[in-house]
Amino acid sequence: MEPVKWGIIGTGSIAREFVSDLVFVNAPQQVVAVLGHNKDSTKEFAGTFNIPHAFFELDTFIAKGNMDVAYIATPHTLHYGQVMQCLQHRIPVLCEKPLTINETQCKELVDTARAAQTFLMEGMWLRFLPGIRLVMSLISKGKIGKIVSLRASMGYKAPADPDSRYFDPALGGGSLLDLGVYPVFLALLLMGVPDTIKAVGTLSEEGIDETCSVLFHYSRGQHATLESSLKSETKLPVEIAGEKGTIKMLYPWFEKTPGIELQLYNGEPVTYPMQWEGHGLYFETEEVLSCIQNKQIESKLLPHAFSLEMIRTMDEIRSQVNVSYSMHE
Ligand SMILES: NC(=O)c1ccc[n+]([C@@H]2O[C@H](COP(=O)([O-])OP(=O)(O)OC[C@H]3O[C@@H](n4cnc5c(N)ncnc54)[C@H](OP(=O)(O)O)[C@@H]3O)[C@@H](O)[C@H]2O)c1
Repeated sequence: MEPVKWGIIGTGSIAREFVSDLVFVNAPQQVVAVLGHNKDSTKEFAGTFNIPHAFFELDTFIAKGNMDVAYIATPHTLHYGQVMQCLQHRIPVLCEKPLTINETQCKELVDTARAAQTFLMEGMWLRFLPGIRLVMSLISKGKIGKIVSLRASMGYKAPADPDSRYFDPALGGGSLLDLGVYPVFLALLLMGVPDTIKAVGTLSEEGIDETCSVLFHYSRGQHATLESSLKSETKLPVEIAGEKGTIKMLYPWFEKTPGIELQLYNGEPVTYPMQWEGHGLYFETEEVLSCIQNKQIESKLLPHAFSLEMIRTMDEIRSQVNVSYSMHE
């Protein structure tokens, strides 16, 4: 079987994890091209992963990269333009979260994917991890009954460098789009679109949200409490409380959770240990490859409509906390 040929855009931390994880995919994969920014780090990346062609211009990468599919892992504000050009050239795309910085951009990308009949998926890899699949199965089997509340927090003490993408408004900085996207994703996945959203944030001098606290309220008697922070590290599990019991996704729940705990109110706790090879990005990669093979332009597990709902929700949160990426919007 011929290997699937990947083009990689971005050479940062998650791109390294993604490429390292390709060995675990259930079919042969090859990275044939990389598009970088800084010459030295791009050449080092190409050397480390045996990538034959390194490019520094998107046009040339697209014209000469000879790839079957592109993976994009650059700062958020670059996603829109890079995804757009790939789709216009009918190159299927897996793009890191958040797919775009606002709903308008996301709609345009989805419209372009449809017009070009070309696959597009947001790299919300959590959706494909064994831990979340188990949680979804326990909930759909009715183990904890109707969900009453969900608590999810993600905090990372980012290095205090105003030039880093975490704090730079021009690169879509802020805790919500980087970290808060995971708690928001989880609430939307398990509980759907809230009827009311309340959000507050602490803003940096540059005007990005260093911390963000969000409350989702549902008219059917459910709520979610969601937090993100670039100023402090939280090591909390996710807690999903239902009418019959609770489910905990142990920290780090947003990547390699060590286990899922089920505690029924009238029973003994049960722990499901979790373990898998590598980082775990290959679960989403396998979904991308299966969709492309089946000539789908979107994943049924993470459809375009879901990405649109997620960014619409984050636009609302951002407007309540007064964060704007005005140079891009
Ligand atoms: N799924 C996940 O778990 C996960 C985890 C982390 C991040 N992410 C997402 O992935 C994206 C990247 O995050 P990261 O942590 O990997 O960031 P990072 O370490 O800062 O890497 C960003 C990379 O983009 C490169 N770059 C900048 N401008 C570019 C351009 N015009 N063309 C090509 N490459 C360019 C940078 O190159 P230079 O260093 O040379 O400037 C750097 O290699 C973000 O959107 C983030 O939200 C996802």
